[in-house]
Amino acid sequence: MERPILVFLHVLGATVWVGGHLVLALSVLPRALREESPRRIQEYEEAFERIGLPALAVQVLTGLRLAWIYAPPSAWLGFDGHVPRHVTLKLITLAGTIALAVHARLSLVPKLSTADGARALRPLGWHIVAITILAVFFAFVGVSLRGGGLL
Ligand code: HEM
Repeated sequence: MERPILVFLHVLGATVWVGGHLVLALSVLPRALREESPRRIQEYEEAFERIGLPALAVQVLTGLRLAWIYAPPSAWLGFDGHVPRHVTLKLITLAGTIALAVHARLSLVPKLSTADGARALRPLGWHIVAITILAVFFAFVGVSLRGGGLL
């Protein structure tokens, strides 16, 4: 696939992933905490999952392909040099995102539907804030890679 198409798909996926998490962290989560209503998070997660997870998959696939255009995988890791530094930061951010998402999905989200659901809201809230910060950082690193020099 041509690079401009890959960048377009990558940026489209970024709008979904970053935008969806900002809405969750800044709008849905504060309201759920105020009302002690796990249901609000569950409803949003169910709706977002359907486009959020494919968007993340598109990010990973197009991101890896774009990184390959800049340098072969053997030259991706490390903090010496513009491209390796940025690709390494992207991969670390991805690992953190996956770890937080798996932990939230397997251990915290199921608790929301129990009688103690409101108590699971706070730890889940910290996960949501952390994943959102990582999402914004993903975009920041991407623009720095392309534009050069923010990092
Ligand atoms: C949710 C995850 C991600 C988000 C939100 C994201 C976001 C972005 C954004 C906003 C850009 C800037 C595009 C531009 O300035 O035109 C970008 C560029 C880039 N991203 Fe990502 N990214 C993500 C995941 C990844 C992953 C997993 C990789 C793989 C290493 C990756 C590799 C790249 C590369 C190589 C570029 C430079 C593209 C180019 O200009 O040729 N990204 N990313």
